[in-house]
Amino acid sequence: MKILIAEDDYVSRLLLKKSISAMDHEVLEAVDGQQGLDLFQENEPSMVITDWMMPKIDGLELCKKIRSSGKKTYTYIMLLTAKDKISDLVEVFAAGADDYITKPFKPDELKSRIKTGERILTLEHNHHKLQQEMTEKNFELDKALKDLKETQSQILQSEKMASIGQLAAGVAHEINNPIGFVGSNLSTLTDYLKDFNTLLGHYNLMKQNLKDTDLEKLPDNIKIITETIEKFEEEIDIDYLKDDIPELLGDCAEGTERVRKIVADLKNFAHPGNDKIKLVNVNQGIESTLNVVSNEIKYKAQVIKEFGEIPLVEGYPQQINQVFMNILVNAAQAIEEKGEIHIKTQQDNKDVKITISDNGSGIEEKNIAKIFDPFFTTKPVGKGTGLGMNIAYNIIKKHKGTIDIKSKVGSGTTFTIILPGK
Ligand SMILES: Nc1ncnc2c1ncn2[C@@H]1O[C@H](COP(=O)(O)OP(=O)(O)O)[C@@H](O)[C@H]1O
Ligand SMILES: [Mg+2]
Repeated sequence: MKILIAEDDYVSRLLLKKSISAMDHEVLEAVDGQQGLDLFQENEPSMVITDWMMPKIDGLELCKKIRSSGKKTYTYIMLLTAKDKISDLVEVFAAGADDYITKPFKPDELKSRIKTGERILTLEHNHHKLQQEMTEKNFELDKALKDLKETQSQILQSEKMASIGQLAAGVAHEINNPIGFVGSNLSTLTDYLKDFNTLLGHYNLMKQNLKDTDLEKLPDNIKIITETIEKFEEEIDIDYLKDDIPELLGDCAEGTERVRKIVADLKNFAHPGNDKIKLVNVNQGIESTLNVVSNEIKYKAQVIKEFGEIPLVEGYPQQINQVFMNILVNAAQAIEEKGEIHIKTQQDNKDVKITISDNGSGIEEKNIAKIFDPFFTTKPVGKGTGLGMNIAYNIIKKHKGTIDIKSKVGSGTTFTIILPGK
């Protein structure tokens, strides 16, 4: 153990040194309080034995300075006091000393007191270590607890998503069937209607012919029939019906088409397709997707294509096209009247980089982070399901790619997709 002695009296210092060295401790010597303080700061001894009365800095002052030095481990301090000072011991302990010894001291007593000091230092050291270990353990515990909470919320989240997915798949399945026959019946009805219209045309012709002949020559029952027909035609406003029925059927067909798309979205959300893994030519994929969505885009935007030479991508072609489709439909929907959609593909190191930009409405800053959340939509009920971007995100993730979004309200939105090239 390192022990510092601060003592201005030469003889006393020598005696101290001798006794302490005999105990196999390393001794540092200071001839006054100032030197004592300097040596303390340089060497950080475990124990300090200091005289009380010293020039410049006295023992009490040194004590206080050591206590406020901020040294990490404990320093055991013993004060040397003259016999006549014994009544002032309160001051000694108040300054932060742990023990005292009266001068002239007996070597044996000094030895015992140093041993006591050593014992206390060991206890102190163990206590300190224990405390440190406990702090570390607490820290680990805190971290583990935090991790646990995070995992728990992730599990909850994924369970929630899984059950929403199941629900969606169930609903989609249930709707699919009726919407299928409603759609096909509507198209059959439209065909039938054409036949009825033709038949009506024939009846009209007949009625006209009858009217053109001399009414008096016609038998009464025919007269009555023609009158009844004319009256009824007026009543139901036949001309209006002729125009309105096809329109109604058209609206219904459009409605079922919309439901069909929503159902397809929901199905994709639940289990995104099961097509086979292939080598995909992204340029071709975009091209065929553009054909599919041309109806939704052509009135809204001019499409500018800038296709580069790009490597093939390994993945599920239908799903990758689904991503382009969802982005392109959103882009068209974001354009109010007439805008532009710019599609660029290029090689990026070994990867394929696809950027799709529109100059539509843009996305509010606060919404950008939510774009990929399932069911997040800013569109009116019936128009948006909020699933398009979530599906896109999951598909790209499954292909080990990235999808990023940059947007500014009023200027437009850019999606950047990177897919690993093969
Ligand atoms: N190109 C875009 N321009 C502006 N807003 C967009 C664009 N793409 C996506 N968004 C925003 O992201 C939301 C979520 O998109 P999406 O998941 O496809 O759901 P939906 O289109 O059914 O609303 C949209 O409602 C819209 O607010
Ligand atoms: Mg969408």
